[in-house]
Amino acid sequence: MANDRLLPQHVGIIMDGNGRWAKKRGLPRQAGHKVGASTFQKITRYCNKIGIQYLTVYAFSTENWKRPQEEVDAIMNLLRSFLKDAKNHRAENVKTHFIGDLTVLAPDIQEMMRDCERESAGFTGLTLNIAVNYGGRDEILQAAKRFAADAAAHKIVPDELTQAQFSSYLYTAGQPDVDLIIRPSGEMRLSNFLLWQAAYAEYVFMDTLWPDFNEKCLEKALEEFARRNRRFGGV
Ligand code: FPP
Repeated sequence: MANDRLLPQHVGIIMDGNGRWAKKRGLPRQAGHKVGASTFQKITRYCNKIGIQYLTVYAFSTENWKRPQEEVDAIMNLLRSFLKDAKNHRAENVKTHFIGDLTVLAPDIQEMMRDCERESAGFTGLTLNIAVNYGGRDEILQAAKRFAADAAAHKIVPDELTQAQFSSYLYTAGQPDVDLIIRPSGEMRLSNFLLWQAAYAEYVFMDTLWPDFNEKCLEKALEEFARRNRRFGGV
């Protein structure tokens, strides 16, 4: 845990494998999400402790609404529990931010999300982005629409748009691009996660299912990241 190692500034995690974890044990899929939510809290605390500055976790995608209602409800209730408990985590100093199209979520969840963001806005530790009803293409589309509106209002000249300016229309405005994306559970897909921000990200795919993921797994991914020679298209 020495600070002289090459730590990614921004880590993204696709919390995958909850359903398979539960199935292996003859449990309902929801049971996997419940343990997955504890893993999420454990890994967030650890990232904060070792000095990762930004962590983005994929909690619910724009495609996840296709799952059985019971499962969707269970994930939303896990979010509710997390949000209700958020006040008790003040000492952790984590600045929490929600990314995605939140407007279709239940009003009580939206309100608790806003409270949580407001209450943690001044915190100086890890910045935690929780992606809910998030899709990378959707994010780019809403950014393009907002940019077009600004262009129509003559606030910005389309020809002069830079990549940095376009980034400021994304949900992650003001944050650095993601450096490392970890996907556990053996799947090797991007699944619409941080498409714009991951242009130069390193990917680490691991076999462990998310509920079994622990600090050691994260350390392995960080070691792999440090070993890779990042050239950003140079030589
Ligand atoms: C993917 O695994 C996981 C999800 C769609 C849900 C992830 C949500 C949590 C871990 C809880 C979130 C709670 C908070 C407080 C952030 P999967 O169900 O697709 O697993 P499978 O591929 O094995 O079926």
